[in-house]
Amino acid sequence: MSNICVIGTGYVGLVTGACFADLGNTVICMDVDHDRIDKLNQGIMPIYEPGLKQLVDQNVRGGRISFTCDYCEALKNAEFAFVAVGTPSGVDGEADLQYVRSAAEVIADEVDHPIIVVNKSTVPVGTGDWVSDIITRRCNDKPFAFSVVSNPEFLREGSAINDFMCPDRVVLGSLDHDAASSVAQLYLSLRCPIIITDLRTAEMIKYASNAFLATRISFINEIANMCEEMGADVSEVALGMGYDHRIGHDFLDAGLGWGGSCFPKDVKALAHMAVLHGTHPQLLQAVMEINRNQRRRVVLRLRRALGSLNEKVIGVLGLSFKPNTDDIREAPALEVIHLLENEGAIVRAYDPQAMGAAARMMKRLDLCENPYEVARGADALVLATEWNEFKQLDFARLHELMRTPVLVDGRNQWDPDKLRSMGFTYFGVGRGLVNNHD
Ligand SMILES: NC(=O)c1ccc[n+]([C@@H]2O[C@H](COP(=O)([O-])OP(=O)(O)OC[C@H]3O[C@@H](n4cnc5c(N)ncnc54)[C@H](O)[C@@H]3O)[C@@H](O)[C@H]2O)c1
Repeated sequence: MSNICVIGTGYVGLVTGACFADLGNTVICMDVDHDRIDKLNQGIMPIYEPGLKQLVDQNVRGGRISFTCDYCEALKNAEFAFVAVGTPSGVDGEADLQYVRSAAEVIADEVDHPIIVVNKSTVPVGTGDWVSDIITRRCNDKPFAFSVVSNPEFLREGSAINDFMCPDRVVLGSLDHDAASSVAQLYLSLRCPIIITDLRTAEMIKYASNAFLATRISFINEIANMCEEMGADVSEVALGMGYDHRIGHDFLDAGLGWGGSCFPKDVKALAHMAVLHGTHPQLLQAVMEINRNQRRRVVLRLRRALGSLNEKVIGVLGLSFKPNTDDIREAPALEVIHLLENEGAIVRAYDPQAMGAAARMMKRLDLCENPYEVARGADALVLATEWNEFKQLDFARLHELMRTPVLVDGRNQWDPDKLRSMGFTYFGVGRGLVNNHD
């Protein structure tokens, strides 16, 4: 069993720390955010992730996980320092590496024994070498070795613990094969494929994976837009495609497009890297453009149903970028709300878990207690996030409450025939026959 320090205790760091602790290691999670660490020390989770509180609580009780803001304490006995700090988009779409830099600098300054620095943050190709340089320069006079291993993370918010514990694969990249093998030992009990490669290849595997998944979604959205015009139903098209083993069913759901803390920034960062290295990322540019347009199409549909949106009351169901998380970073719902507000609409919204985050980020947004409050007097409802609780609503009650019964089903979750027979005007995404009905 190993001593592990995790630097950055957000969605990735906290899940990583809790899972490694559950596998029997001794873990210290460190963060510069004092409020976050105070909460964790009081047993309060700073994020919503199913199963996380229980996992953290049981490992705190078992003495395998603790939380600190103190780098020195966190690194004291650590054999591995996992870096899981944010890498948000910079002004030109590049990954902003300031948090990675500062973590690398402090590790170099504080550590007084051999350590393997494992980078879990999603970072541009070449960052591992850069981190290695930073540490080498600052550790110049220290009489011990360190290594850098890239270990990109593939967990999904909403199913993060299961994704960590049952990964499709673990990717490790390093110039130091022994260091990569030591990190591999930490994952052996998960009995999953472990790919050991060089640093740059590991970093690229992460970007290429996210860009590919985003591409699948943009692809099906482009097909959806054609279906809409040509009278086909994209849900059935996706089903028919997905049974082909070469294609598969995942990431073929037409809707408002991809969002979240990873795909948008990672596709942008990969495109930025490509340009910097003299290649022309035309597919990635198209993937991003299709995604932007999916949000705009909501406004077009509403204009088609309601005319001018000025002073119209539009309800939005769902704010998080996908169900089962409270994360609203780059959520499609936020962009739709922004576009609607630009048209003069009065927007109100409800989300099962993301209301706190939304209240902090969008001070003016009218937040309601449930879907029915959102619907009261509304001219239209937009389903932006497919939380389970929105799948089986009391539509008769919604119809009664709404001023104009217009539904934009941005996630193709509802039954168009049923809703239309109840008197709703229904719009889905890429449901051509359905959408051309009105
Ligand atoms: N969220 C995901 O689903 C996901 C999945 C795979 C990979 N990733 C990648 O993992 C990385 C982290 O993502 P996240 O969503 O967990 O971010 P996050 O914003 O939830 O957490 C990052 C944490 O790092 C802390 N931090 C920043 N600088 C620090 C420093 N110098 N020392 C210590 N702590 C510091 C912040 O206070 C914050 O709590 C990103 O590169 C992201 O792209 C995220």
